[in-house]
Amino acid sequence: MKKLLELISDEMQQAFEAAGYKKELGRVTVSNRPDLCEYQCNGAMAGAKEYKKAPIMIANEVAEKLSGSKVFSEVTAVMPGFLNLKLTESFLAEYLKGMAEDEKFGLEMPENPKMIIVDYGGANVAKPLHVGHIRAAVIGESIKRISRYAGHEVIGDVHLGDWGLQMGLVICGVQERMPELVYFDESYEGEYPTEAPFTISELEEIYPAASAKSKADPDFKAKAMEATFKLQSGQPGYRALWKHILNVSVTDLKKNYGSLNVEFDLWKGESDVHELIPEMVQLMKDGGHAYISDGALVVDVKEETDTKEMPPCMILKSDGASLYNTTDLATILERKRLYNPDEIIYVVDKRQDLYFEQVFRCAKKTGLVDDKTALKFVGFGTMNGKDGKPFKTRDGGVMRLENLIKNTRDEMFQKIMESRPMDEEEAKDTAGKVAVSALIYCDLSNQASKDYIFDLERFTSFEGDTGPYLLYTIVRMKSILNKYVEQGGSLEGLELAEAQNSSEKGLMMQLAGFNAMMANAAEEIAPHKVCAFIYDTANAFNHFYHETKILGEEDENRKKGLIALLSFTKNVMETCLSVLAIEAPEHM
Ligand code: ARG
Repeated sequence: MKKLLELISDEMQQAFEAAGYKKELGRVTVSNRPDLCEYQCNGAMAGAKEYKKAPIMIANEVAEKLSGSKVFSEVTAVMPGFLNLKLTESFLAEYLKGMAEDEKFGLEMPENPKMIIVDYGGANVAKPLHVGHIRAAVIGESIKRISRYAGHEVIGDVHLGDWGLQMGLVICGVQERMPELVYFDESYEGEYPTEAPFTISELEEIYPAASAKSKADPDFKAKAMEATFKLQSGQPGYRALWKHILNVSVTDLKKNYGSLNVEFDLWKGESDVHELIPEMVQLMKDGGHAYISDGALVVDVKEETDTKEMPPCMILKSDGASLYNTTDLATILERKRLYNPDEIIYVVDKRQDLYFEQVFRCAKKTGLVDDKTALKFVGFGTMNGKDGKPFKTRDGGVMRLENLIKNTRDEMFQKIMESRPMDEEEAKDTAGKVAVSALIYCDLSNQASKDYIFDLERFTSFEGDTGPYLLYTIVRMKSILNKYVEQGGSLEGLELAEAQNSSEKGLMMQLAGFNAMMANAAEEIAPHKVCAFIYDTANAFNHFYHETKILGEEDENRKKGLIALLSFTKNVMETCLSVLAIEAPEHM
């Protein structure tokens, strides 16, 4: 469907033409004086010079052409030459009916859907997820869902950190604790055990201990580097042990990401492209791009217009070992071959922006991808504590994601129990859903690139621009619909009707902006725009709800129309929440 503003502008453009002016002048925008009108057009002002006429004269002539318009109920030319506009209730109702009948509520599908890969999450194997990972997860998940809803083919890939030094550290850490394991016996030729020799909690102790030790003990560090190298070169014992580390860790990661409604299509990692590296290196050498500098293999990525330092992209270290760069570049090559994406979107901490600039330039320069593949970096800011510094636990440590979710859940549970008595089990379940919505919403409603302050008290409030407020609004809608059905009403075959008061019309105009908003959020990779839309919709609904008798309405036909509007509002809001990966409970 055409966007509402396009349709209104079409009508206005015809009027400009009919009055003898060029139609481009008839662009309509949302009013910036909602107390005076709903929409406005400033074309008469823009055309005054060209037509050597006072703007108010042009505005008057255009207004005259619009008398009897089916789109505008009011067209007022005001000094010095603005056109103030109001829509007819019938035009608005027809537009909304069209939306309600369309599976995507009037959002047009692209003629040529894009193939998009979203690289997000970025968890590191054997390390627990911490607060820093929440942003990578929820922003990436919403970008994936928004692009998919907008009609593109989208693949989400977690791109695990599973191949670097941390793996050598864990291997050596395991060896210290259990030197007798067969994985460390180089002469062993039998089958390796299928059972992992550690649990996730043991694994989570092993990594930090080994990491700390490597900082204090250079011999241990050297051993870990050697183990990393041997693992990458394919030593069977290390590979077998590494598989266990990977499996145990991924099972736990799936659970944790799952609790945030985050699901990846691909669980690939840095290790998956190991075999591609020699070929990629050859390609870069053959192309004349890669050369040896101080023993390392590098590609220059500096451009003449650079104002900031742009160091060369290092492909291989002097000992031939690969780096974070290397696997990212090889992953681009692999993705190009397997999926031929139009776009790869990286959702990573914005402090890695220079790094990605290097990687992108290197990939383009060396021809891993051509100009048709867009490489986009969506860098996110830091989640800070109230002191403005990165969020920490009370004793100054890094907070685990699991604990953050648990704390939020506990806070929510208390609020729910205080606000009204509810069965304890149900309250727990509800608190879980609402807590997750609070976390996701506070993260997404802030523009991704900005830092934000995590304020548990505020984010879990039922009032203001929060997840709980939105869910509360939806739960209220569900309960009205349930009551309507209990009272013998049916939700089948309801038809949207013309608005009969201003709050009702306000809600309808808000809903009519859904398709334009969603197209824009997808185009600009901007989940916060979906958040702003849901919040405005919830406010418009609550305003309408307070001013309008719904279940108490005596005119049955009118009541049906109101219920239709309520049900449509709920559907639109739920769709918006679902692209943000937020679920609404039944009761609250
Ligand atoms: N594992 C990385 C880290 O902890 C993040 C990965 C981001 N994605 C990527 N393709 N490099 O910093």
